[in-house]
Amino acid sequence: MNIVILLGAPGSGKGTIAAKLAGDNENLKHVSSGDLLRGAVAKGTEAGKAAKDFMEAGKLVPDELIAAMIKDVIAETQGEVTMLLDGFPRNVAQAEILEKTGAPIKSAVLVDVPDEIITDRIAGRRTCPKCKAGYHVKSLPPKVEGVCDKCGAALTIRKDDNPDTVKDRLVVYHRETEPLIKFYEAKGLLKKIDGNQSPATAAAAFTAAM
Ligand code: AP5
Ligand code: MG
Repeated sequence: MNIVILLGAPGSGKGTIAAKLAGDNENLKHVSSGDLLRGAVAKGTEAGKAAKDFMEAGKLVPDELIAAMIKDVIAETQGEVTMLLDGFPRNVAQAEILEKTGAPIKSAVLVDVPDEIITDRIAGRRTCPKCKAGYHVKSLPPKVEGVCDKCGAALTIRKDDNPDTVKDRLVVYHRETEPLIKFYEAKGLLKKIDGNQSPATAAAAFTAAM
């Protein structure tokens, strides 16, 4: 097993790219910290109860809480698999926790999108609560409005996707997560792709970079 980290602002397309690549290649496994946390909130587990308010406010959940979940997924992942790690690490402390697991990191790929584009991306995002497929009302619409192509469930809007929370999430990204660019650059692991192009082109660029 090895790990490719997806770095990028909220709405930069990390989840869209990782889901596409993992859907096309069974040796790639998409692990989204946000999906793990939303799953825990939906199930009402202790971790979910502890995470809920942070997430709705657009703040990071405590490092130990998310790190415990990621460590479990790493421990249960065996064989010739590349894990596309989407949303973790989110700050330098989490990057150090990841290093201590000993899991080999192949690269950290920054999906680069300017902040002006992010607001529109997130405003149009629709998500399937059942199979987690992601859509956008303009750039990636479902065949039938409001209905998931893959499983037929009614699409929803994420609670943290309102404009005020998005502003806060961007502030958190620049303050907490952006320092990881230098962190991985110093280790010779950083790659960068232009995320401001079509989802298919961005996914192809990601494959070439990772
Ligand atoms: P998380 O779920 O990780 O959210 P995020 O980082 O804010 O990222 P997003 O999921 O919003 O964006 P994305 O890059 O995946 O974009 P997407 O592909 O959907 O985290 C949520 C919360 O959980 C955090 O705020 C925090 O509270 C907590 N959390 C998670 N991890 C944590 C951690 N490690 N530590 C502490 N707390 C943590 O695309 C967005 C939209 O744009 C979609 O509609 C999509 O269809 C569209 N789109 C995608 N690509 C393109 C394209 N190329 N062109 C046009 N449209 C596109
Ligand atoms: Mg995502």
